[in-house]
Amino acid sequence: MTTSIGITRAHTNIALIKYWGKENKELFIPMNSSLSLTLEAFYTDTKVELSDTLTEDEFYLNGAKQDEAAIAKITRFLDLFRTETGDTRRARVESLNFVPTAAGLASSASAFAALAGAMNEATGLNMPAQKLSTYARRGSGSATRSLFGGFVEWNKGDSNENSMAIPVDDANFDIGMIIIVVSAAEKKISSRAGMELTVSTSPFYEGWVTSAATDLADIKEAIKDRDIHRIGSIAEFNGMKMHATMLASNPPFCYFEPESIVAQQTIRTIREERGIPAYFTMDAGPNVKVICKASDIPAILEELGKVFPSEKLIPTLPGEGIRTLTEDEWNA
Ligand code: ADP
Ligand code: DP6
Ligand code: CO
Repeated sequence: MTTSIGITRAHTNIALIKYWGKENKELFIPMNSSLSLTLEAFYTDTKVELSDTLTEDEFYLNGAKQDEAAIAKITRFLDLFRTETGDTRRARVESLNFVPTAAGLASSASAFAALAGAMNEATGLNMPAQKLSTYARRGSGSATRSLFGGFVEWNKGDSNENSMAIPVDDANFDIGMIIIVVSAAEKKISSRAGMELTVSTSPFYEGWVTSAATDLADIKEAIKDRDIHRIGSIAEFNGMKMHATMLASNPPFCYFEPESIVAQQTIRTIREERGIPAYFTMDAGPNVKVICKASDIPAILEELGKVFPSEKLIPTLPGEGIRTLTEDEWNA
């Protein structure tokens, strides 16, 4: 029997300039380039064991055996590597999410970056991270950006080879995020279904694509200048525009919950009345992410703590790119 193992940790990322819509659904080429911050607090650990004794792929998430539909998604992804290597051995995939699954906290980003990393090792392909990002992309678009730490751009590109991650800045300055967990429940509309409906029905979609390009150029300048006010205000503007496209879809849909609006208002108040630079963004779910200086996190937590229970507030610093775990780290 021959067995090959790969174990990888990947952190989630939160987009400041969002990816929302595919130009090519099969290849996961996006309609617009995006940019994110990788987060230290949330991640996925995934172990892949390729073995010629297996007759089918197996997939365990957080210790629970997954159903056929979930396995089929994994198989489709692993097939990309099998086509490349000619090694058709089946895999046992075990994954642990240190992030709520499908709650708008980017579990699909850390998930497919970790799975791509583990396969990269197990197959012995050992591709460099940028090339590997083109594989992660085809599991979930946002996973493209989780290969690297800090601020990462996903260059839209126009082919399988050049739609990839580009590290922009290691974010080694006074910046952080606070996640306000409004609900960790699984969303009803997946990111994939939501963006597809938006692209095909929203009359605002064209405006989204053109203005996202401007926002991306602007935020890269702001990152260079380490200007938290500009980084935050561009991200807030971009995120709200993405949600506006959904309100104008047919049928309209919305990921906000009442508490999401309360969170947004609280952030505005902190900014306007306390003079603390704090801005928000939201993804395909009700949770609100605050962009701020790392050094302001205690003061912002104190203010937010007047409105939300402390266990719903998760501060985080920027995180690292993917890394290999040893068997000992995995078993710990
Ligand atoms: P999120 O906001 O969490 O990214 P998505 O709707 O984009 O939500 O993606 C959730 C999907 O990602 C899950 O339904 C599952 O298919 C996949 N996923 C999440 N975690 C893992 C994991 N650790 N391994 C493989 N697939 C995962
Ligand atoms: C709102 O990457 O989850 O979080 O590519 O279909 O798997 P698929 O979608 P996904 O979409 C993420 C959408 C977003 C914005 C972002 O992360 O850029
Ligand atoms: Co996702």
